[in-house]
Amino acid sequence: MASKRCIVTGGCGFIGSALVRRLCREGRDVLVVDKLTYAGVKESLKEVDGLYDLLVADICDQSRMDRAFAEFRPDTVFHLAAESHVDRSIDGPGEFVRTNVVGTATLLQSALAWWRKNPAFVFQHISTDEVYGSLGAEGFFTEATPYSPHSPYSASKAASDHLVRAWHDTYGLPVRITNCSNNYGPYHFPEKLIPLVILNCLDGKPLPVYGKGANVRDWLYVEDHVSALCLVNEKGADGETYNVGGHNERTNLEVVQAICATLDELRPRAAGPYSDLITYVADRPGHDLRYAIDPSKLMDTLGWRPAESFDTGIRKTVRWYLDNDWWWRPIREQRYAGGRLGAKV
Ligand code: NAD
Ligand code: DAU
Repeated sequence: MASKRCIVTGGCGFIGSALVRRLCREGRDVLVVDKLTYAGVKESLKEVDGLYDLLVADICDQSRMDRAFAEFRPDTVFHLAAESHVDRSIDGPGEFVRTNVVGTATLLQSALAWWRKNPAFVFQHISTDEVYGSLGAEGFFTEATPYSPHSPYSASKAASDHLVRAWHDTYGLPVRITNCSNNYGPYHFPEKLIPLVILNCLDGKPLPVYGKGANVRDWLYVEDHVSALCLVNEKGADGETYNVGGHNERTNLEVVQAICATLDELRPRAAGPYSDLITYVADRPGHDLRYAIDPSKLMDTLGWRPAESFDTGIRKTVRWYLDNDWWWRPIREQRYAGGRLGAKV
């Protein structure tokens, strides 16, 4: 059965806000718990203003979390709050350990106390394919792939996954875990490759491609991720892990070229094609070569199907940034202007 009362941690972030918009439209009761870090953008929830409650709080604060559970009385927590950017984890790993590891353990303790009084409760943990490490030219990550994280970000997410499984195996807390590939779409914070490249194109700035642009990521439109999260919440089995991805592997250079070609059509540039702005820069330290998800468990057991291909999703995304400078302009001007992160070790 679909959960009626949902806590969404990190609900002002990129994926969390897409989930909150959907849950609100479906008429669920939603409490967003978000610290509003540099990546938390309340304006991402403008479409559903008045339909959710917001608790501005740190998931590491045990007593605030205990109170949030007791007062809101959730059927589910969707746990998305995290430090999410690999490059920032290279510059400053401490905050990643604090929020992603300590924060997850704190939330698990609050959830455990709440579940002991409310046995229908489910803890749903949102994680990443980066915990599996890097693939060579062949093969896919399955749910049985051993963990082998390389960056401080992915190591902290791997630790959080282990904590969630430990609370299930030791205390019996009902949990579900999903590990998803690279998301993209509207309201994506412009430190990540796709929104950064779109906005640098519009500003006529260089498009930074790490190394030779040959690293491969498996791209999923954010609303397809959200549909998977809702399906796993409704129909997933206790203690199970589901990988989420739509078989959309692209090299980084292909991604940048696709954005340039879309903008050449939708917003032609007087000075010449956008691809003239492509600039090869120093590689990311410890850069994983290739990620690719095998989503067959989610597809075969729960019937999930993505609605967007990379071609349709990237077009929608570019159009969204062209039409919504009210959202990104203040971020570029006041929070993060697009400078290089994570290059120095
Ligand atoms: P994001 O960086 O856009 O948003 C993170 C949100 O968490 C922000 O609103 C921030 O304010 C909040 N937050 C951070 N620290 C907090 C704390 N201590 N207490 C409360 N709130 C805090 O991240 P995202 O891209 O939306 O990712 C959401 C989740 O999905 C993360 O757990 C991430 O690891 C996972 N994930 C992301 C992707 C992707 O491609 N973006 C893919 C797979 C999994
Ligand atoms: O795979 C899932 C992960 O995807 C999530 O767990 C992370 O939260 C999310 O940030 C994302 O991680 P990546 O490191 O893959 O995303 P990012 O957009 O930072 O980089 C995508 C690829 O593009 C990566 O190979 C590095 C490269 N890149 C990135 C930036 C920011 C560039 O070439 N130039 C850039 O300027």
